[in-house]
Amino acid sequence: MNHNSATRRTFIGSMGAALGLAHFAPSLDLFAQTRRQGEPGEEHPEEDYDGMAKLASNENCWGPSDDVVKAMKDAFKYANRYQYPDGGIVEAIAKHHGLKKENVLLGAGSGEVLKMVDEAFLPDHKRVVGVDPSYDSVYRHVTNSKAEVIKVPLLKDYRMDIPGIIRAVKTNYRDVSFVYLCNPNNPTGNIIPKHEIKMLLDNIPSDVPVLIDEAYHHFVTNPDYATSVPYVLEGRQVIVTRTFSKIAALAGMRLGYGLAPKELLERLHPFGSGGLNAVVKYGGVAALKDTAYEKKIKQMTIDLRERTIKDLHGWGYEVIPSETNFFMVNVGRDVTQVAEDFKKRKVLVGRKFPPMNNWLRVSVGTEPEMQQFMAAFKAMFPAGGIKDTKKDKAEAKEAGV
Ligand SMILES: Cc1ncc(COP(=O)(O)O)c(C=O)c1O
Repeated sequence: MNHNSATRRTFIGSMGAALGLAHFAPSLDLFAQTRRQGEPGEEHPEEDYDGMAKLASNENCWGPSDDVVKAMKDAFKYANRYQYPDGGIVEAIAKHHGLKKENVLLGAGSGEVLKMVDEAFLPDHKRVVGVDPSYDSVYRHVTNSKAEVIKVPLLKDYRMDIPGIIRAVKTNYRDVSFVYLCNPNNPTGNIIPKHEIKMLLDNIPSDVPVLIDEAYHHFVTNPDYATSVPYVLEGRQVIVTRTFSKIAALAGMRLGYGLAPKELLERLHPFGSGGLNAVVKYGGVAALKDTAYEKKIKQMTIDLRERTIKDLHGWGYEVIPSETNFFMVNVGRDVTQVAEDFKKRKVLVGRKFPPMNNWLRVSVGTEPEMQQFMAAFKAMFPAGGIKDTKKDKAEAKEAGV
């Protein structure tokens, strides 16, 4: 599976050599930092981390394509420069989406762009509207900025309540900084259908910006889904974010971007760190071109995801249908301890996503990692699924037992 690991090792080796290091051994702090930018996670000594099945952070377990690794290796000659050619990354992204350069804003991961949106818009109005649960990095920034998130609960079938969001925006109109939508949603893995995005944009006041996080766009197959990039072209108050961390497997290299009408992006510019590295920009350009690799990763991910879900169903457990490289399974008890128990079995899984406290988020890993996960799952949870004691008692009472 890991066909390009040798190439990656060579790449890392040459980085080490270029830095004059005997071994390229990132410090724990470096791991801590990259993980904090993605999702919070416990720190592990490197040996431990490498030995774990990593199903906690929705990464691409197969790593970047050979073309991407080569492009980054070739760009390493700029590692010692401040001013360097950037491989034409902004043009490449603009062309990829049929937009202009002025509609593209780079970030050190899409997480940086999300943070820039918070910083740019929160001083004016103090409320953000979004669903709950969703990718909570945006919500954390909001709370840190002493602003408030109006969290609209998911519907009973875990779909996002778009009419509820519209109502929340209208009710709080003058106070709303922006709306945050994650499509497909993290952690549930499901989509907002295209007609519902349209309904939202058509029914909220047109000056309320809508931030649409499409980090998992590349994994979707559902025909009811569509990217919201065309709304940027129309000049609507929409910011779409994308990342190279998922399908392109560059999570540790940090590259993402926002797409929006020029005037909207101009409000974000002052909040960028300018902290992008020279190497990843070349990787990004190569990744956009390597559509064959993207297709292959998508297929492998979906195959493994669906096989694992089938296995979990067969074992008696409920899973939310997913359009991403992760899924949620109902384990019937609080996930915090469950995640600890998985860790003892050398499997890292997602943390708790309140209020879905009993739902475990599992990322798709390699085939051996998924086997390791299933073996651990079967050892920890009985066949036949969760026993709902309340329901059992109610049924028994009804049956007069
Ligand atoms: C929905 C969503 N948005 C954004 C991010 C941030 O990704 P990055 O900063 O690596 O682009 C993540 C990371 O897991 C995510 O799940």
